[in-house]
Amino acid sequence: MIINSCKKDDKAEGIDKELLDMSRSTNGFVWYKKSSALLNKSSGTGHSFPYLRTRYNSIAASKLDSNGIILPGVTFPEGSLIVKELYSNTSTLSRYAILYKKSGRAETDAKGWIWGYVNADGTVASPASEKGNSCINCHSQTGSIDYMLMNKYFP
Ligand code: HEC
Repeated sequence: MIINSCKKDDKAEGIDKELLDMSRSTNGFVWYKKSSALLNKSSGTGHSFPYLRTRYNSIAASKLDSNGIILPGVTFPEGSLIVKELYSNTSTLSRYAILYKKSGRAETDAKGWIWGYVNADGTVASPASEKGNSCINCHSQTGSIDYMLMNKYFP
């Protein structure tokens, strides 16, 4: 029996709640290109919100260059947390897209990542138990770095 497993639109529990809680505070994060400005979603996006901005916890930020761009060819270390905030309009934060490198969990994928997709209202958009199965193909495309696409679409 699986406990703590959330379905789409359920209130986040277990790992999904954990990912949401870790992502809500911007404390200690570094913004992509060191800018908290909202960006228009890119042509390649699979995310159905018009605006976004992405940040890295201090562990993940060790793989950014001095301009806040991901260094070529890196693999992010254990404990890396990357949060993309998705906005419905310029003042409404609606969803968090989350990549958390954490080994040994039931939700960890083959490259060591857990995929979170949680709404700001606390409901689940795609449960982490799906192990990124709707995300990985697109995030493995040519030009991705350890699944990351900001560098490709916002060079
Ligand atoms: C069809 C392609 C596509 C799919 C499917 C997709 N994404 Fe993305 N994702 C992107 C692109 C492109 C970006 C760069 C920013 C943008 O334009 O949205 C991105 C950015 C991100 C980021 C910011 C880190 C980075 O540099 O890539 C995270 C985290 C993320 N996506 C998580 C997810 C999750 C979780 C799912 C599945 C529930 C998912 N993505 C599905 C294309 C996709």
